[in-house]
Parts: sequence; structure tokens; C-alpha cells
Amino acid sequence: MHKPNLIDSMSERLYIFDTTLRDGEQVPGCQLNTVEKIQVAKQLETLGVDVIEAGFPISSPGDFNSVIEISKAVTWPTICALTRAVEKDIDVAAEALQYAKRKRIHTGIGTSESHIKYKFNATHEEIIERAVAAVKYAKKYVEDVEFYAEDAGRTDNEYLARVIEAVTKAGATVCNIPDTTGFRLPNEYNEKIKYLYEHVDAFAAGKSILSTHCHNDLGMATANTVAGVLGGARQVEVTINGIGERAGHTSLEEIAMIFKTHPDLGIETNINTTKIYPTSRMVSSLMNMPVQPNKAVVGRNAFAHSSGIHQDGVLKNTSTYEIMDPKAVGIDDNAIVLTARSGRAALKHRLNVNGIDIDGERLDKVYEEFLRLADRKKEVTDDDILVLAGGDRAQTHNVKLDYLQVTTGMGVRSVASIGLCIANEHFEAAASGNGPVDAAIKALKSIIKREMTLREFTIQAISKGSDDMGKVHMQVEHAGHVYYGFGANTDIVTASVEAYIDCINKFK
Ligand code: KIV
Ligand code: ZN
Repeated sequence: MHKPNLIDSMSERLYIFDTTLRDGEQVPGCQLNTVEKIQVAKQLETLGVDVIEAGFPISSPGDFNSVIEISKAVTWPTICALTRAVEKDIDVAAEALQYAKRKRIHTGIGTSESHIKYKFNATHEEIIERAVAAVKYAKKYVEDVEFYAEDAGRTDNEYLARVIEAVTKAGATVCNIPDTTGFRLPNEYNEKIKYLYEHVDAFAAGKSILSTHCHNDLGMATANTVAGVLGGARQVEVTINGIGERAGHTSLEEIAMIFKTHPDLGIETNINTTKIYPTSRMVSSLMNMPVQPNKAVVGRNAFAHSSGIHQDGVLKNTSTYEIMDPKAVGIDDNAIVLTARSGRAALKHRLNVNGIDIDGERLDKVYEEFLRLADRKKEVTDDDILVLAGGDRAQTHNVKLDYLQVTTGMGVRSVASIGLCIANEHFEAAASGNGPVDAAIKALKSIIKREMTLREFTIQAISKGSDDMGKVHMQVEHAGHVYYGFGANTDIVTASVEAYIDCINKFK
């Protein structure tokens, strides 16, 4: 019998299943297009993940297409597609996976009392039958079939073991035990995984492995995932920066660094940890999802010691207060800084280091933008160029900002005049407001006469100086929907208006 908390002296392999492009991408307003998804998938391959969950093919033509294109673009990781326990879903997933060199279908059904009763209006036995039928059906297409028991966190362990026993007998190679609502405590999740390991023969027999899938509603996702691994799970489902709906998911970087900094746990992953930071920056930039400054491993302050006592200790010997070397996660303080004198090759190299491979006309366009920025800013950082490389998304916008002029100051009312290009027609307006952003948005609204309300407005300077690029994230409500927008500029008022316009361009 496996002793889950006492791992043998030889390290055991933990498989990293990345769901940034499926569960992570469910964050409203953070959807990526296929080209961006391929970029992230290739970076995940460089990072060393074992499985990429590329999408839920039946859910939309976009998801279907992304699974096809990612399958073509990626070589080593297994490409996984999500389905419900429904034959049509599985047919479509199998079709989307046709080009994958290694493929997996991820099928499943809700197993908790509330799912059985309210979602399916079924009996416990019917759920087991549907689960088994789905796994058997998926096995017709692929050898590697993962089964998920949705809301397993709140499913009675004895019943869950019956479901899992049945699906492993039907051929499930991986059994995913999602804590869908992020409810379980770490000791409870550990016991659940241990219970399944001990009551379902396939795990000790090496015919199937258990997988964790922990949401972060109570801030316990990473702790629960570690508890699951200590309980016997050998796959973890994670996202870059812990992104995901609501409070997010277990973050890949935290799990990779936990097992790296605790070799005594005897768990090894295939993650090349020096690629963690560039991957985090890329995902944050493409999804317009800022990383909180105090985020473990990849936050701006994760390695910044500000208290005098800490600084003194770190200067004498880094191990005094640092348990990880920033270089081990790919943070390189000596990274080349680009300036107005840097050439195209240097820009291309830095973009490459950050996982962006561009050439030809697209590189020329980003280089032009880069030179404009370098004129305004002494040093251009990796974050800046990631924003520039993502900027071409605005090229397809219907509404574009032509110019913006604002007069503002203390003791006077701000006045803004704005020029917009809408479907190749030019419009101008002016307005006053109680600040420069207020005036500019009022002027904008006097041209775009639609019901819209600003719901959220976050300004973030990218790094240090007063000449820095500012990033603005906005949420605007229109006709019952909330739209997310992003803008980046050395002028924070312009960035704000760009973010508002980005929202408007997404209106349905
Ligand atoms: O959280 C969850 O239960 C899921 C499943 C669909 C795998 O994401
Ligand atoms: Zn999930």
C-alpha cells in the first residue's frame, strides 16, 4: 500500500497539466485569439509543461480552431481537449485533436449531491453509467482519457470512490478530482485523495493517476494542491499567475517552486524554472491581467527587500532572507535594457527571450513604436516591449483615437478636446470635467452616444521612473454586459481613453 505522506527516497515525477488556455481563459474579458493562444502554448512548451489543456472545442468555433492550431504548433506536450460526458462533445474534441502528436480527451460529469439533483436530475447510478459510457466512448478515439468528477470537493468520498473505480475500469488513464468551488480545507483534500488512492486499485497498480484541480475561492488552491500531491496525486492542474474565474486557480509557478525548494518531499517536475518569469509576463500582457505586486514567485515585490534589517541581511548573504534565487525563476536584474540606440536585432532578441517571435513587417511596426517610446523614455523594459508587441490588436478597431488634448491643473476645471476616427470618418468634441480623465471621457461620450457606465478603473505604472509607461485596465458596462479594456501609454490620460475605447470596440 502506498504511504502518501512518506515519499520514497527516489524522487517521483509530478506531471504538470496547464489549463491557462481553458479554465484560466474563462476570466471575463481576458479571452485570447488563436494567434495569441499559439504564442502562449509555445511558451508553455518551452517552460516544460507535460499537458496543455487547449480548450473546450464544442463550446465555440474559436475554441475548436485554437485546439487545431495549437495541436499543429506544439510538439512535446500532450494536447488535451475538454468535453462534457456527451457523445457529440467527444466527437468534436477528437476532431479538434486530429493534428496533435500526443492527445488526450478530458471528459466528465458532476458527482456532488447538488450536481446530481439539480443539474442532472438523475440518480447516483445513472451518473456512474454516464461517466463510464463517456470514458468508453472517448477511448474509441484516444488511448489517453482523463475523467473529471466535477465538484468532487463536495462529493461524498465513498460515492466518489465508486465513480472513480468504475471509470478506471473503463480505461481512464487520469482521474481529476476538482475542488470546483475552492471549498475544501487542505487536510480534507489530502484525505480525499488518500482515500481514493487506497480504495481504487488502479492507482497502486499504476494503471491510472490521480490529478488535483483546485480553485482558489478561499485562497487555499496552492495549499490544497500540495496536500493532494502529498496524498498521492501525481498530476496537478494549474494556470500561469493562478489566473481563472472568480479568485482563480492554483498557480503553476508556486507549485513548481514549492517542490524545487523542498527537495525533501521527493517530487520532481519537468519545469524549466528559469522560464517562469518570462511566461508570467507574457500571459499577463496578452490577457491584460496585471499580476498583483505581492504575488508569490512572480509579483513585482516578490524579491524586493525594503526593510533596512532585511536589506542588510541580504547584502551580507542572500540566503539570510531569500529562499529562492530570483535568477532561478528567470528574473535577471542585469537583463539588457533597450534604449533609443538599440537596433532591430536587440529588440527582436528581447522579444524572443520573452517568448515572442516576430519578423518582417510586424517587427518593423513594433520597432517604429519602440523608437517613438524610446524618445520619450530613457530605458525601455521587457514589460514595455510586451505591451508594444500586443499593440497591433488595436489596428483592427473600428473606433480609433486620432488625437487628445487636455488642459488641467490645480484650481482650474480640466478641459479636453478629442478626435476620433470611426469607420474612417472623423469626429471631434470637447468637454470639461473635474479632472483630465473625466473631461476626456465626457468628450468621448459626447461622440459615442451610447449608454455606458465605467465600473472599474485601475492605473498601474509598469516599473519605476516618472517617464514610465502607464497601463490602464477598465471595465465598462453596456446593455447589461461588462466589457474589459486596456490601454498603455506614457501619458496616463491617453492610456485611460485608449482603455475606454478598447471597451467600446468590444460592444456587441
Ligand atoms: O473546476 C472544475 O470542476 C473544472 C472541470 C470542468 C474540470 O474545471
Ligand atoms: Zn476548474
